[in-house]
Amino acid sequence: MLLAQISDTHVQLPGGELDRYYDTAGHLARAVAHLNALSPQPDVVLLTGDTVDAGAPAEYARLREILAPLRAPLFVIPGNHDEREAMRAAFGADAYLPADGFLQYVVEEWPLRLIALDTVVPGEPGGRLCEARLRWLDARLAEAPTRPTVLFLHHPPFQTGMTLMDRMGLREPEGLARVVASHSQVRHVLAGHLHRPIVTAFAGTIASTCPSTAHQVALDLPPDTGLSVVMEPPAATLLYYDERADTLVHHLSYVGERPRHVLHDGQAWQLHEAPPARFRG
Ligand SMILES: [Fe+2]
Ligand SMILES: [Fe+2]
Repeated sequence: MLLAQISDTHVQLPGGELDRYYDTAGHLARAVAHLNALSPQPDVVLLTGDTVDAGAPAEYARLREILAPLRAPLFVIPGNHDEREAMRAAFGADAYLPADGFLQYVVEEWPLRLIALDTVVPGEPGGRLCEARLRWLDARLAEAPTRPTVLFLHHPPFQTGMTLMDRMGLREPEGLARVVASHSQVRHVLAGHLHRPIVTAFAGTIASTCPSTAHQVALDLPPDTGLSVVMEPPAATLLYYDERADTLVHHLSYVGERPRHVLHDGQAWQLHEAPPARFRG
């Protein structure tokens, strides 16, 4: 099974600041084409929040238009830039979002069981999983203790060393850590929000964040260095699950075509071929 994650698409209406500065809509269209061109195709694609920038219905309409060519089934969760009810209305026809309450749900169709979490606190950049949301997760995990499971949420449940982003992270992540640590089937926790690829140990499993499909946050580790955008290459996370071995491997798949130097064509080594000119200097 191949699971793809994209994140922080931040789609705006034409002419909005992010649209002009970072071409978030154009970047998402390229990410969709990239996912469609993957071989093998991802079985499922997760979009982990900040899907639009202001949570407006018209932004969601544009988002859906750009996502329409995506071949693999898509599942969305909200981030701090989303608006819960507008998102529910925009994706309601897909029938996986609950009719009311938090946008938390379970996807059962694949060898990896997928559990979506809603960390949104309206009006706040940071996130939270309150007792009700954690109790729901604990109950869902208790239903299928032997099924390998991936959790996905917008705010990562760990400190990154990037102080400004950490201040708007997941409040009281110990609550999630407690639930996850008590269920040994959780193989991975996928998050967004950081606009960077980060991987760490978490509560007896592995947690990671996904780059944005458009603008990335610069890696500034000295305390209080502020926050900058840097146009590092956009990427999707790919989780490759080997069912027989029950192993889950985390890859990054950079969006866009790059010249290749073929070393082996599948039949024989091709070491006499020189690399394309762009490889030098
Ligand atoms: Fe974001
Ligand atoms: Fe965010």
